[in-house]
Amino acid sequence: MRKINVAIDGPAAAGKSTVARKIAEKCSFTYIDTGAMYRALTYKALQKKINLEDEQKLTSLLMDTNIHLEPANLGGKVFVDGVDVTKDIRNNEVTNAVPTVAKHPGVRQLMVQMQQELAKEGGVVMDGRDIGTHVLPNAEVKIFMIASVEERANRRFQENIQKGIQSDLEKLKEEISLRDKLDSERETAPLLKADDAIEIDTTSLTIDEVVAKIIEIIKERS
Ligand code: CDP
Ligand code: CDP
Repeated sequence: MRKINVAIDGPAAAGKSTVARKIAEKCSFTYIDTGAMYRALTYKALQKKINLEDEQKLTSLLMDTNIHLEPANLGGKVFVDGVDVTKDIRNNEVTNAVPTVAKHPGVRQLMVQMQQELAKEGGVVMDGRDIGTHVLPNAEVKIFMIASVEERANRRFQENIQKGIQSDLEKLKEEISLRDKLDSERETAPLLKADDAIEIDTTSLTIDEVVAKIIEIIKERS
């Protein structure tokens, strides 16, 4: 298969990373989780007790930070300055704080440069919020994945059960809605469907059905 780039955007828990990972595996492409990069920076900023409204401090911190995304076939771990933070970056404190860090133009500019560098050879499946609109505006395939907020909260709820974590469905719904609002309403590179993106509503689709749909589109375009 020709090494094209695939951009997948959408709100929280729409199924982006699960689907993107499977597509990358099937096409022998590289999966890049840009959310993990914003999470990694947020984790380090919280550790260092940096004021998350301080754009300059966060931008300098990012310049001094080595974020490494291990390839999925080697384990897909996330490292910050050589330390495995794969689990830590998914905790609630980080999750709820990421939009505050991700709203700063200086932070986004550096992140976008790193992401474009990672995709420059092609053959990348990248998921996030601004991939089709800003990071890879020339991606051959752009997908905008959505699902109802009830379904998305339920997916996180089920995920937590599997991890042995007890959670409150209503609270999950509120947190997801707030994060979507912050991501959609920020001034710089908000969560937005690119004009040429194909929207897929995954509310009543299985993971495999979504994967099959996107693989069809990739085959057509490559
Ligand atoms: O997996 P989940 O949908 O919960 O979130 P994520 O993809 O890990 O992204 C976490 C947060 O990072 C988002 O809520 C955004 O605030 C930010 N983000 C962003 O601003 N731009 C991206 N390209 C990716 C993530
Ligand atoms: O990356 P994003 O936040 O968009 O979502 P995710 O973490 O990939 O998926 C959230 C949860 O929904 C995962 O536990 C998936 O197994 C589940 N799921 C899905 O991704 N797609 C479906 N069509 C159905 C369930």
